[in-house]
Amino acid sequence: MDRPADLTDPLVRRRAELVKWARDPVDVLPAWVAEHDFRPPEAVFAAVHRVADEGAFGYTRRAAALGPAYASWARRRHAWEVDPELVTWHVDVLQGVVAAVTALSEPGEGLVITPPIYFPFLDIAPTTGRRQLEWRLRRDDTGWHLDPDDLDAVLSREPDARVLLLSHPHNPTGRVLDPAALARIVEICARHDVHIVSDEIHGDLVRPDVEFRPLLTVPGAAERTVVVTSAAKTFSLSGLRCAVSVFADPDLRSRVLHAHPPLLLGHPGRVGIEATIAAWEHGADWTDGLVELIGRRFDRLAERLAAEAPAVRWHRPEATFLAWLDVSACGLGPRPGATLLERARVAVSEGVDFGEGGEGHIRVNVGTAEAVFEEICDRLLPHLGVAAGGGA
Ligand SMILES: Cc1ncc(COP(=O)(O)O)c(C=O)c1O
Repeated sequence: MDRPADLTDPLVRRRAELVKWARDPVDVLPAWVAEHDFRPPEAVFAAVHRVADEGAFGYTRRAAALGPAYASWARRRHAWEVDPELVTWHVDVLQGVVAAVTALSEPGEGLVITPPIYFPFLDIAPTTGRRQLEWRLRRDDTGWHLDPDDLDAVLSREPDARVLLLSHPHNPTGRVLDPAALARIVEICARHDVHIVSDEIHGDLVRPDVEFRPLLTVPGAAERTVVVTSAAKTFSLSGLRCAVSVFADPDLRSRVLHAHPPLLLGHPGRVGIEATIAAWEHGADWTDGLVELIGRRFDRLAERLAAEAPAVRWHRPEATFLAWLDVSACGLGPRPGATLLERARVAVSEGVDFGEGGEGHIRVNVGTAEAVFEEICDRLLPHLGVAAGGGA
């Protein structure tokens, strides 16, 4: 069976100037950008080779096949019936997100985001002239949560809020909103006349014991929701630049598509299209294998943190290959990621870059070969004890 194999030869990855591997000096191990190090399914390689062998590099109409390919994947993976005619394509997920946000709000109107949050979302309001509003996660002993009552309060206070932008599942906490919360979010947004842009790029990598429901499967969501996703995170294809927006309402699709000059939004290239289609058509077993493998990494992380760094506070994520660690008791200063880069020679993501709630945190990517993962732990954990004299 096609199983994820390691792709961690640092020389090859540096030569390709992959940002994850090539940003830092050679002695640094990368555990930052949300990109895993596993070889995509063989069908993806076959698709890419086919394009190269044919030499058919011209303009293509093949993007139209993304709709049926995604609909088939959504049905098998998420029991979600997508109308292929209502799938549109673009170059990456962030492009689809920004296109939807700017189509569904005017300058000066409010965009709600959920900090701590995937940090590019923090740039969207400031760079598009929208007003940034925050529906913050709360943390208790069981983990990080989004409380729909807090959303209701934000929207009641801010009548010019027009769009709620979700990372579903949530990056960096790995939280998956449950069906009851999703239903309430849709009800609250309907009451306040707010659209929902749901970035579901991490939606395939969900723990088997957790139920993930795409937002567009929630009754009442169709008229106000855009789901933006791609094969990039699941299959580590981010450099191939191909993503989709999924609608369930033709009018909403048309509104988003026609809000921008037709030539502004790019078109994915054939290699990205063929690789994405191959992944969605043939990558189901491979994805199950990856989810299992990520589960093993988190088992091991839990074991090692408990034994070697009990001062670290964390909650095992329900999705993603990212661990969100509270290292505030470890005396690493206001930018623990920078301190760890210097002392442990491991590059992690800095919590404060994810906005409010990120203080004292780091995000660690566990999606790598076992030996690399163990080395990352070997290097990091000696620095994650309790600081002399108590907290940070
Ligand atoms: C939640 C989320 N959205 C979007 C992206 C980026 O996707 P793309 O490169 O397709 O814009 C990432 C990458 O880490 C992500 O975590």
